[in-house]
Amino acid sequence: MTAIKGKHIILGITGGIAAYKSAMLVRLLVKAGAEVQVVMTPNAKEFITPVTLSTLSGKPVISEFFTANTGEWHSHVDLGLWADAMIVAPATASTIAKMANGVADNMLVTTYLSAKAPVFVAPAMDLDMMAHPSTVRNISLLRSYGNHIIEAQSGELASHLTGKGRMEEPERIVEVLEAYFSGNCDYKGKHVLITAGPTYERIDPVRFIGNYSSGKMGYAIAGEAASRGATVTLVSGPVSIPAPADSAISVVRVESARQMLDACENVFPDADVAIMCAAVADYAPASPSDIKIKREGNEPPEIRLVKNPDIARTLGEKKHEGQILVGFALETDHEGDNAVAKMKSKNLDMIVLNSLRDAGAGFSTDTNKVTVFTADGRTLPFPLKDKHEVAGDILDTILSL
Ligand code: C5P
Repeated sequence: MTAIKGKHIILGITGGIAAYKSAMLVRLLVKAGAEVQVVMTPNAKEFITPVTLSTLSGKPVISEFFTANTGEWHSHVDLGLWADAMIVAPATASTIAKMANGVADNMLVTTYLSAKAPVFVAPAMDLDMMAHPSTVRNISLLRSYGNHIIEAQSGELASHLTGKGRMEEPERIVEVLEAYFSGNCDYKGKHVLITAGPTYERIDPVRFIGNYSSGKMGYAIAGEAASRGATVTLVSGPVSIPAPADSAISVVRVESARQMLDACENVFPDADVAIMCAAVADYAPASPSDIKIKREGNEPPEIRLVKNPDIARTLGEKKHEGQILVGFALETDHEGDNAVAKMKSKNLDMIVLNSLRDAGAGFSTDTNKVTVFTADGRTLPFPLKDKHEVAGDILDTILSL
């Protein structure tokens, strides 16, 4: 390990049981050659003593805005500028909520708001807190600010319950940082086009035909590709997740399949990789009404449908040497055969299959279980993982083509 050597790292520690692991994290970072400044929330001191951490880091721990006996002010601004990276590990639900909403009532969150460097957040909490919509939303907000989330793992928790909420092991956190500093920029210079979310096909000004796609998988791939150095154009159907704040990602918002095709055709000639993650409606109403269709005095309307363009197939026909086109297949039966047939008929280089028969895979979940088929004949089954980790696997496989 060398990339961490000489780096200035702020380690933010919050008040959770996993704080005992922070001692090991400081040890490993210092061993890798980093200068570590520990910033603790007042609650964190209930779980691990500042003496342990200042001894291991070789620097006094900062917790308050002022040192009580001397009145010396700890400048969060200077600290924010000093840092090459900030890690918050463990990050409790409360600190994550404060970071997401700018509640700067302690030194740690104040430093976070001043930090110019990349921020890595390793959540740790009980499974119910982890799954609560407020935590899910706050973590997704942090992600949208460009922060790196080091996913909590599943296993036995301090409560003796079993589920997702264990802080990632210190060794792995150091590896994540190492990969970041060693410039895992394997997508640098690449332009990646990604479609995401559903399409809405208008029936009248207030009604549409749509589907349950959340956009999470496509947004996860966009974030991962950008963090690996790519310039990303994310052509997004209507979704409720926030737009990524990463300046390397341009979001083009569309509603219908037609609009999505137009946006993709504009971008595709300059793209190195195109990943068709959107759940595009197959049909659209032939003649959408300009006014709201009335119920009173009318028989139920018959809506005639026309075929939508197949965006992946259209791009497959235009693909030139060196471009890589990736599709998704969501299947309920004969999954592998259907996926491979789609890859061939649409002239794709790779297809990512999710089966609706697998629990935790598909549209609105945060996890996915995929099997990747490549045009060079490989079948790569992956286990159930968080969609952000699946995004990494997909991008790795694309590079292997
Ligand atoms: O044929 P099917 O809809 O199962 O194919 C799925 C793949 O094709 C996905 O990658 C999806 O984004 C893409 N697709 C498309 N345009 C359509 C239908 C599907 O780009 N009209």
